[in-house]
Parts: sequence; C-alpha cells; structure tokens
Amino acid sequence: MNKIIDLRTDTVTQPTAAMLAAMQTATQGDDSRDGDATVIKLEALAATMTGKAAGLYMPSGTMTNLVAVLAHTSRAGEVLLERGAHILNNELGGLSAVAGVYYKALPGSRGAIDETALREAVRPMTRNNFGTSLICMETTHNGAGGTVLPLAHMKMVHALAQQHGIPVHTDGARFFNAAVALDVPASTIAQHTDSVCFCVSKGLSAPVGSVLCGSSAFIERARPFRRMVGGAMRQAGSIAAAGIVALETMIDRLKDDHATARRLAAGLHAIDPRLCDPAGIQTNIVRIDISFTVRNAAQWSAALAQAGIAVSPGDSRSLRFVTHRHIGNNEIDQALTAFSTQFKTI
Ligand SMILES: Cc1ncc(COP(=O)(O)O)c(C=O)c1O
Repeated sequence: MNKIIDLRTDTVTQPTAAMLAAMQTATQGDDSRDGDATVIKLEALAATMTGKAAGLYMPSGTMTNLVAVLAHTSRAGEVLLERGAHILNNELGGLSAVAGVYYKALPGSRGAIDETALREAVRPMTRNNFGTSLICMETTHNGAGGTVLPLAHMKMVHALAQQHGIPVHTDGARFFNAAVALDVPASTIAQHTDSVCFCVSKGLSAPVGSVLCGSSAFIERARPFRRMVGGAMRQAGSIAAAGIVALETMIDRLKDDHATARRLAAGLHAIDPRLCDPAGIQTNIVRIDISFTVRNAAQWSAALAQAGIAVSPGDSRSLRFVTHRHIGNNEIDQALTAFSTQFKTI
C-alpha cells in the first residue's frame, strides 16, 4: 500500500534537518539545577515573540496549561472556560484532579466565550465563596475547528478580568497559527492575556516542547509548580535547540498548512455541502459533520484508514483533519479521492 496520508494531527511532523543539526550541537547544562544556555535562549525568544517578560520551557502543552492554572490560582477558586476548551475536554481533568480548582464551562461560539454568560459567571470572593480565580481562552481553538479568537473578543475578556482583578491564561497550543491567520505578530494577540502557552511540537515541527510566557513574577511562581508536576528537565538543551529553530524558521510556512486546509474543505464541500463550510476554515484544522451519513466517526475513520488516509474521529458525529508540513496539494487530492469513493458507497 502507498504511504499513509496522516491527517490526524500536526504533532506527527518530523524535525527538520536544521533542527537535528542544532540538537546535536546543543549545550548540555542541567536546566533544573544551574540552567542551560539553550533552554534560556528558547525561553527568552518565546518571551520576546509574545511580548512577555519571561518564558518557561516544558515537555507538553498539557503541562504548560496545568502549571499556568496552578501558578495563577494557587489551588483555589473557580476557573471559567469556554465549554469546548481543550483544557476541559482533553486534559483528563488535571484542572481539578491536580490543580485542585473547580470550573464553570460557559457557552461559546467558534471558541469565543459568550460575553453575557461570562459577565454573569464572574464572581467575587465572599465569606462563602472563593470567587473566580482565572479565566482561560484558547486560540486557535481546536474543538471549534482551528478557529481564531477575534482580537476584540480577547480584549473584552481581558478588560473584564482586569476590572475584577482576575488573571487570564490563553491556551495557545497553535498560537502562531492564529498570528499567521490574523497577519499580526504573536505579541499583538498576547497583549490581551496575562499568560500564554504555545507548542513548538505541533505545526512548527520540533519534536518536543511548549513554552509558558508571562510576567517575571508569574514565571517565578510557575517554576516550583513545574517541578511539582515533574516538568523540571535536565539536559533539555538538546530538545530546546529544535524549538529555537522552529521559532526562527517554521512560522511563515504555517500559511501553507492553512491553504491546504482550505483546499481540503473546498473539496469536501464539493462532495457534499453538508460536510463542512469552507468559509469557516481559518487555520489548519478541518472538522466535518458526518452525522447525516450512515457511518459514525469510528466507522468513517476505519474506512478511510483502509484507503490509506488517517483522520481523527472527533465525537461520534464528526471527523477532524489537520494539515501540516508533510501534507501538500497531492496528499489533499488523494484524501479527497478516497473520501469521495467512500462517500459514494454509503
Ligand atoms: C488547544 C490545545 N491545547 C493543548 C494541547 C496539549 O498539547 P500536548 O499534546 O503537547 O500536551 C493541545 C494538543 O493538541 C491542543 O490542541
């Protein structure tokens, strides 16, 4: 059989030759003990690019979100999030099970929390209530299909939070996809949040890692929490080196992934307009509705896998396709042919 066309996720991207070369010659300091020059360089670069004072390197996006929640809340109070948030739905309850906070899931549209619901949900601390201790946003929003939060929305959320003395954290696993889609520097988006994390291991193609960015005081508070959850690494320069190359060389090409996603969405729409609305595709994620077909998501992904196309079942009624550096127009066209063939058999 031909090579599998892997559209499950952008985390399957392989490191570039420049990344592998940088990894071989990276400094080998103990990041947890005395610090490592390469890790420090990555953290400084991440901070500069997001317009924050400091950064903290960790192994995964899940860990950066968890450490952000711990550092912002000190294990108390209620966290407000949009109900499709990755932190809520895909991080195995770490928010409550590890960070010890409770949460309220708010309705939203294309990943943006409904403003009225947010205003109603914000609660002050009282004799009988911890109150709201954190508001989380997510951009791009994975569950909503790679949508980009409008800057005006982020500004509104941040202003409301500031008015109540509540910090804001943004899960920006694909933050640079959002910046490329909006055609603004990442710092323009990050000005509307107190902390932000992003992954170098997704479309940016580095093998490992995420960076949490925020004020110096916040990052110093985050450091012991990173250690608590096992995220203090040793000769991490080896992997951080690839992260630096990712930030220096891989951001501009994300627009190619957005273009292939649009091509995929247009092709699927041509097969049946009920599958997806190409106008809604902003970045590299295409979520399609298969609820009107006789197959559920697991059956669809099994059928496509037989044809050499790997996709992620979302819930039982949707499939997720993610474009990335190893997916060009040819792969998209092959995926569309396979999908169309399967579609005609049902
Ligand atoms: C929006 C979002 N946040 C966080 C994560 C978690 O990242 P990781 O897989 O590195 O833990 C992901 C992973 O896909 C994500 O899409």
